Amino acid sequence: MQATAIAQPNIALIKYWGKRDLGRNLPAVGSISITLSELHTEVSVELSADLSSDELLVNGEVNQSMLVRISGCLDKVVGAERSRARVTSRSNFPIAAGLASSASAFAATTVAAAGAAGLNLETDELARLAGAASGSAARSLYGGFAELKNSGDTINVDTLCDVEAWPLQVVVAITATGPKATGSTAAMEISRETSPFYDSWIEQQDHDLDVARAAILARDFAGLAGVSEHNCLKMHSVMWASRPPMVYWNSVTMRCMQTVRQLQAEGCNVFFTIDAGPQVKAVCLPEDTKVVSKALAETPGVMQVIITGLGAAARLVDQE
Ligand code: DP6
Repeated sequence: MQATAIAQPNIALIKYWGKRDLGRNLPAVGSISITLSELHTEVSVELSADLSSDELLVNGEVNQSMLVRISGCLDKVVGAERSRARVTSRSNFPIAAGLASSASAFAATTVAAAGAAGLNLETDELARLAGAASGSAARSLYGGFAELKNSGDTINVDTLCDVEAWPLQVVVAITATGPKATGSTAAMEISRETSPFYDSWIEQQDHDLDVARAAILARDFAGLAGVSEHNCLKMHSVMWASRPPMVYWNSVTMRCMQTVRQLQAEGCNVFFTIDAGPQVKAVCLPEDTKVVSKALAETPGVMQVIITGLGAAARLVDQE
């Protein structure tokens, strides 16, 4: 009754922001993401009749704040009548600071929980279960470029293009560590309830998805860059115009965006994207990785850069 899984975080190029059904955690929009290779979360789930309550250790420390969501995820995968669980999670990157830690954590938890319970579930079912815990986690069940389709009563995720077919690189510039002020779940509801731009955000998403999907299928870097930056800035505009306003950027975030603009002016194939946190992810062609990482590392205030390729789907770890 024990299993371990690894999942890699993904970053959305066309963002998920807003829920259509809060109870079932159904997204209000589709999204397109890339899964990253160098970052990962490893989760072990042990189901045991000897435990009186669920336990969660994150990076070696007892974590009560995530426990409710983790327990809810286990209930959905294994069933509410399950034995209590000991869950151990380890990430090799800063958690809860806009680096998609919930995506890799819930994807790995879902796969490990199914493994511990001896359930042999298909990937699309695992994606639905992971997505019910955290919307972006559904995409980490797939490698490379993934599209989460938001139609009907459920979510479906497809791989648009394999890692080998278009091996883009990502340079993550860490501009701050520590948890973010408002978690995504709460922030999305504030946006839906108060942002004057929320409805047009939802209306325009299918168009952005069409443009990005076509660019990925045609390996059109400039096309993907244009729509991805636009979609990212549009999502942040929704947040900025909310009451209370939600501004996840700091001054170093802005400097990194300027560094990317400068690189673009010099002919470099690079674009930025930013999630609900202050880190900047610069997506580039492999031949431009060196110059992009050097420029971001030299941007004043950047604490660290992480260079990564595109990664694989969440999977069970062979414990033999
Ligand atoms: C800005 O998946 O963390 O990263 O479903 O409430 O857990 P919940 O939200 P979450 O939201 C991710 C928001 C985002 C954009 C994205 O990844 O698409």
